[in-house]
Amino acid sequence: MDDRELVRMANEARERAYVPYSGFKVGAALLCTDGSVFTGVNIENAAFGPSVCAERTAFFKAISEGYKDFVKIAVTCDHAYCQPCGVCRQVMIEHAPDLEILMGNPNGEFKRTTIRELLPEAFETI
Ligand code: THU
Repeated sequence: MDDRELVRMANEARERAYVPYSGFKVGAALLCTDGSVFTGVNIENAAFGPSVCAERTAFFKAISEGYKDFVKIAVTCDHAYCQPCGVCRQVMIEHAPDLEILMGNPNGEFKRTTIRELLPEAFETI
C-alpha cells in the first residue's frame, strides 16, 4: 500500500464524518500487516462525551474484526497535517507501539512520524 493512497483513503473517509457540532471533519485509514485497510471518521454526539475520533473508530473497527497487527495510519483533517489527539495516541501505543503515522491535509500532502515520537515515555503496564 502506497503512502499517498493511504492518505487518499483517509481523505475519502473524511467526507463521511458525522460532525454537526464542531463541523470539523477528520478521516483515518489504518493499514494492517496483511494489507487490509480500515477507515474511520469522527462521530460526534449531542451529549459530547460519547463522541469518538476518527483514529479510534478505525482502530476499534479493525480490532473488533480480529485484526491485531498494524503498520501505519493516515489521518487527515481540514487543517494542514492533522495531529492525533492525546487520547488517540494512547490507544495507538497500546495496540501498535511501532506504528508509523502519516499526518495529512485535504490536498493529500503529509508529514511522517511515529507513535513513539508523538508519545514518548508513554504509560504502559504490559
Ligand atoms: N478529532 C479526531 O477525530 N481526531 C483527533 O485526533 C482530534 C480530534 C475530532 C473530535 C471532534 O469531533 C473534532 O475532531 C473536533 O475536535
